[in-house]
Amino acid sequence: MSQENHQNYQPQHIAIIMDGNGRWAKKRFLPRFVGHQKGLKSVKRLVAHCSAQGIKALTLFAFSTENWRRPEDEVNKLMGLFLRALQKEVSKLNDNNVRLLIVGDRTAFNAEIQEHITIAESMTCNNTGLVLSIAANYGGRWDIVEAVKKWQLANPDRSVSELNERELSPYVALSELPEVDLLIRTGGEQRVSNFLIWQIAYAEFYFTEDLWPDFNEESIDKAIASFAQRERRFGKTSEQVAK
Ligand code: FPP
Repeated sequence: MSQENHQNYQPQHIAIIMDGNGRWAKKRFLPRFVGHQKGLKSVKRLVAHCSAQGIKALTLFAFSTENWRRPEDEVNKLMGLFLRALQKEVSKLNDNNVRLLIVGDRTAFNAEIQEHITIAESMTCNNTGLVLSIAANYGGRWDIVEAVKKWQLANPDRSVSELNERELSPYVALSELPEVDLLIRTGGEQRVSNFLIWQIAYAEFYFTEDLWPDFNEESIDKAIASFAQRERRFGKTSEQVAK
């Protein structure tokens, strides 16, 4: 069996839409923010677990371009949590050989957050273990439009009419990483919500009712086991893949 169909094969790049923090808190009559705090704990556990399992890349949707529409107080608290995580967790990531990338339009964040993003990325840039990408103020459509702009900047004498998938691909976020193999969404919804549109072209999807703060090592192992059962054909027939 070719390795291309990935049966019994560990995903190299897992992307997660972390949903359900608010509902987790509501069920316990707690403020939504407590759900986000608990959600950060899940992030830390899963980063350690994926790192230990030898997963190459983990990409987490922390804040979408649409999340600015949330109540101001919740947005401010999420920004505070993001900043504290950048300040507190980076040396731990470094100790574990994790490389941190932040993807998304960072110009919308305040100067202090932007500064800590730069520090965190440069501190961990030579690490060779898990690549942890945090999508913050990220949207899949934004990403594709940015890629076209970057391509045009790099090729000022060429017309966009000459552009093809192969040439655009290096300008899309996370192009230096293996393709996303497995996309997980917690919280019961089954949609992509403008996450990595380009990058999930061939990903397997895994949806779970688990709310993000409840999603733990065992839960991700279940998702990985489900991935390993699936036959990935990349447009080919089962017979071709089996050769
Ligand atoms: C979705 O739950 C979660 C978010 C929009 C924020 C994600 C943030 C974290 C997991 C914590 C911080 C993480 C980092 C990396 C600093 P929701 O609020 O939409 O839940 P609901 O659908 O139940 O309301």
